[in-house]
Amino acid sequence: MRPKFIAGNWKMYTTLAAAKELAAAVAKGAPADPNIRVAVCPPSAWLTAVASVLKGTAVSLGGQNCHFEKEGAFTGELSPAMLLEAGCQYVILGHSERRHGFGETDALLNKKTTAALGAGLKVIFCIGELLAEREANQTETVLDRQLTAGLAGLTSEQMANVVLAYEPVWAIGTGKVATPEQAQAAHAFVRGKIRTLFGEKVAQAVLIQYGGSVKPDNAATLLNLPDVDGALVGGASLKADSFLAIVAGAVR
Ligand code: 13P
Repeated sequence: MRPKFIAGNWKMYTTLAAAKELAAAVAKGAPADPNIRVAVCPPSAWLTAVASVLKGTAVSLGGQNCHFEKEGAFTGELSPAMLLEAGCQYVILGHSERRHGFGETDALLNKKTTAALGAGLKVIFCIGELLAEREANQTETVLDRQLTAGLAGLTSEQMANVVLAYEPVWAIGTGKVATPEQAQAAHAFVRGKIRTLFGEKVAQAVLIQYGGSVKPDNAATLLNLPDVDGALVGGASLKADSFLAIVAGAVR
């Protein structure tokens, strides 16, 4: 049985004080259940402070982005090793806000993913279609391309450190959650594609989170779908109560 993995993507929200308080509350309320994994991904400026709060707890820390080079003249960027040293186990890559807001391409994301895994981070690799792509029946074509290009060259062993997050762009921050049928169909397609690319063992083991307007009142339904292994939560991860209620929805 695959564990459930709930991660909070805090995006560009929180003050330092709020970040520490939120992390402490999440750590306090997270269930001591080996089948439930919980992570928070604060803004990079707060990573070391949140790492101190989470030290010795069951909650993991993730960054929201990284560069593919080890170091260099890349103003404003962070290397995978820096995230690791700041206390991160994870990094989110390929979020739609990076793909569509900052022009990150499949090829760039492949370089970032390869570098992050090489440095020892686990990657939460985000994929998902725009509304226009869904309406044009292009969802599977888009997911196929994002997976094939984004994960190109990775080995089955490396895939053990990759979590996928299916986040339909039209569901992010809109309150318009995918229906259980839409989510399950997309997740089953993603798992099938991973089977084609990496084989049955990797396909059965890989965790596929759903993201996009996950809230306490829809979490349990989504998390009970056969191919949904967790959630990547934006807005509802900014309050400990709502995030922990979503985590509770994963308890079987
Ligand atoms: P919302 O939960 O606010 O829709 O955001 C989802 C998301 O982008 C998580 O990465």
